[in-house]
Amino acid sequence: MKQIKLTINDKIRKFEVNEKDSLLDVLRREGYKSVKSGCDNGTCGVCTVLLNGKPVKSCLIKAIEANNMSIITLEGLGDAETPDPLQKAFIETGAIQCGYCTPAQILSAKALLNKNPDPTEDEVRKALNGVLCRCSGYVRGVDAVKRAAAEMRGESLKQYQHIALTLPENTQDIDLPPEYYRKDGKKNPLPPIVYTPKEMDNVAVVGKSEIKVDAKKLALGKPVFTDDVHPEGMLYGALLTSPHAHARIKNIDVTKARSLPGVHAVLTYKDLPRVKFASGGQSYPQPLPYDQVCLDDKVRHVGDRVAIVAADTLEIAYQALNLIEVEYELLPVVVDMEQAMSDGVSVIHDEEDSIGIRDAQHNIVHHIDAEVGNVDQAFSEADFVFEGEYRTPKQQHVHLEPHVCITYFDEDDRLVVRTSTQVPFHIRRMLSPLINLPVKQIRVIKPRIGGGFGNKQEMLLEDLCAQLTMFTRRPVRMEYTRTQEFTSSRSRHANIIRYKVGIKDRKMTVAQLYLIGDTGAYGSHGLTVNMVGGFKGLTLYNPPNARFICDVVYTNTPPAGAFRGYGAMQCQYGMEVMMEEIANHLGIDVVEFKRENWLKIGETMYLSEQLGEGRKGVKQAMQSSGMQQCVEIGMQATQFKEKRDLYQNQDGRYRKGIGMAVVIHGSGIANLDMGAATIKMNDDGSFNLLIGATDLGTGSDTILGQIAAEVLGVPLDDIIVYSSDTDFTPFDKGAYASSTTYVSGGAVKKAAQEVRNQILEHAALMLEIPDVDLLELKNKQVISQDGRQLTLEEIALSSIHQLNQHQIGATASHVSPVSPPPTAAQFVEIVLDTQTGEVQVERLLMVVDCGRVINPITASGQVEGGMLQALGFALTEEMLFDEKGNPLNPNLSDYKIFRANETPAMDVIFVQTDEPTGPFGAKSVAEISIDGVSPAMASALHDASGVWMRELPYTPERIKAALQNHL
Ligand code: FES
Repeated sequence: MKQIKLTINDKIRKFEVNEKDSLLDVLRREGYKSVKSGCDNGTCGVCTVLLNGKPVKSCLIKAIEANNMSIITLEGLGDAETPDPLQKAFIETGAIQCGYCTPAQILSAKALLNKNPDPTEDEVRKALNGVLCRCSGYVRGVDAVKRAAAEMRGESLKQYQHIALTLPENTQDIDLPPEYYRKDGKKNPLPPIVYTPKEMDNVAVVGKSEIKVDAKKLALGKPVFTDDVHPEGMLYGALLTSPHAHARIKNIDVTKARSLPGVHAVLTYKDLPRVKFASGGQSYPQPLPYDQVCLDDKVRHVGDRVAIVAADTLEIAYQALNLIEVEYELLPVVVDMEQAMSDGVSVIHDEEDSIGIRDAQHNIVHHIDAEVGNVDQAFSEADFVFEGEYRTPKQQHVHLEPHVCITYFDEDDRLVVRTSTQVPFHIRRMLSPLINLPVKQIRVIKPRIGGGFGNKQEMLLEDLCAQLTMFTRRPVRMEYTRTQEFTSSRSRHANIIRYKVGIKDRKMTVAQLYLIGDTGAYGSHGLTVNMVGGFKGLTLYNPPNARFICDVVYTNTPPAGAFRGYGAMQCQYGMEVMMEEIANHLGIDVVEFKRENWLKIGETMYLSEQLGEGRKGVKQAMQSSGMQQCVEIGMQATQFKEKRDLYQNQDGRYRKGIGMAVVIHGSGIANLDMGAATIKMNDDGSFNLLIGATDLGTGSDTILGQIAAEVLGVPLDDIIVYSSDTDFTPFDKGAYASSTTYVSGGAVKKAAQEVRNQILEHAALMLEIPDVDLLELKNKQVISQDGRQLTLEEIALSSIHQLNQHQIGATASHVSPVSPPPTAAQFVEIVLDTQTGEVQVERLLMVVDCGRVINPITASGQVEGGMLQALGFALTEEMLFDEKGNPLNPNLSDYKIFRANETPAMDVIFVQTDEPTGPFGAKSVAEISIDGVSPAMASALHDASGVWMRELPYTPERIKAALQNHL
């Protein structure tokens, strides 16, 4: 051990440190929790601090190297009363989504502004470049830095808001603000536009770009994430993973590991009961298969679970892992999804006790068949029949906060699971049989989540961590390394998508989709992801005759799971590319062709009854759509037609292209997803809103608060939002399936309406008025027709302490019989280098109908972030494996996601519609944002080069090869 002296946030501190300790280790250990950990090799940048005024990655610096130096962490910048201009600007602009990257982004910007008070846009992007953000498109972050710089220069600032405009009856008459044409070629951030039809009701709190309820604490770097608070006496858990993609464990010897001082537990399959489960966090009954156990005597992918350890320190835990001796019997490996289904192939699940595998001998976990109309006859009657095959890869979520979990027994000997999860209530139910504790003995707390995108809709560490706590009776913490995020968490399903489409009189009368989904080593979300893919892929153009056939297949690769887009993005990608190919072949205008065919208001979604996500669905019809307006506005903003004409017959090395795609998504799972909310009134007339819905950076705490505030006639500030804790908040299915605004929002609205009724009833009692209809609730007051007024505080005090004493409050639940599709048009503009195959993206524009936009700045953050993830899917992101199943790019250097100075101009326009079944007309926005970039990119590439690309991602190598075959 060595003593070092650091000046941290202007205070001199002395610490005993180990030579191996990184600066990150020491800072977090000493309570500077704003410094985050995301990769341990300096690629993600969330551990950035200022060292002698310069931004450095604290995970790369040994603590002893920083001896006698000065360090600034976010805790040293400002506080709640006097925030730094950067903290203030990040709060005001909506730059904070999950907030995990925020401290590092703010500090990086601080270093820039300290030396350059008036930076250019490029300089800002360059300064933010070292810190990855997976939630946003960097748009609001760049704007935040420019705004802070302006404030520091003494310039006066306007309130940061969206642009609210009225939607004209004829969208062709629309008058866009000139900057939305992007004629100057710049990529400066623009506020989102919200177009509202004249007939939509006025609202007070809903529809405003309110500041997020959690923005301040995140901007100040408060300890709000799972790993920011450690219980006394906590042990460090670690997971031994398989180096082989398919093997039987012949022998495992843990003697040496167990005898290492500081080790408290080493557990293998020999120590745990064999209880089968499925790791996907879904509603009861969990969709099959049950094909996992906590620890098994067989491994099925590199990164599969082998053993777990709990020790006094993480270092000892890792030493213990190295001392575990495992003898493997290697088995043949299959990584190709088509090969996996062939006769005589290696069987990945040859165990007897798995439940619900369709055909284990052929590695087929699910076979789905659904059909409406008369498909064969419709094909025989079609004018034209087209076929096309499209391929999409495994994509990793790359949330910056890894999976992390802490388990302990509380003073009543109940197991507490503090975990970064999207599904706290599902985790509690799923965990119970694995650790043999009744549900009532388990409490799951979801603190702040540093991103999830579906990957935290899984039980990946909670069961292992709980097993270690059960065994040691001590608190235990477990966290995935970044490598384990690639090898041991979940990914997007890779798909092979084969469409056959029949056209008669320019109408799609029939379509067939054969889909193969690669679920990797375990079934998890295999059924539902691929079913959603089939439903959305065949419903976008909704032919009355449709057939969906799907095989979901095991391979010896890390399991796939839920990922934003959830199958819909893959299958709509194939459908959209194919539609433009068909239009091209028939020589008809692609936009007109799509317009004549896309799903319209009043139409029944033909496959909705059959593809109900694992259970019988219900017949649904589309009740609201802004697709037409989205397309027209987007075409105008991009000058789509003019550019398409202009780009014809290009030659030379660099060629421009513009592409478009239309997409739909869903809003929750009809008749299945349930959300509940509790609202209670406090003495001062404020309200607690208790929700099981989980905000993973999406802003759902804020928008649910806005819905409550709207109904209760108070500002958002009077709603105290708490989410989520299985002991204190009512049930919610969790954050997935684009359900929170629509389903949980429905529950909040109902609960608020009930509370509103109680307030009016109590006010009527106080005023001795016989009829509540003579009262109005607005602006924190109840006003009677005779002019008398009561404040909410007076009503609260009366109801709690004086008259007819009772707690004003209500709990309400909401399930929807339908899942209304949001609609959107995605536009992409590129320059293609025909020599290298490189694509320079100039602009992404999405025009979105998500019903009523509850919070435009928050919603635009969702769309910007979704588009950037989608851009990665289109151009760079692909998890690669060799033929032995070894991952080839399980790190953030080789697996490429976009940084701040690599992103194009990104614009968002909303066209509001009034969905009759949604709270205040809202539908969903979180997932549709990721659906459109890939097909629009294919469209733009074809526009630039005449080549149809049918396999993602469109890497320079793939593009170059395709061009060589074509040009
Ligand atoms: Fe940047 Fe979530 S807000 S990673």
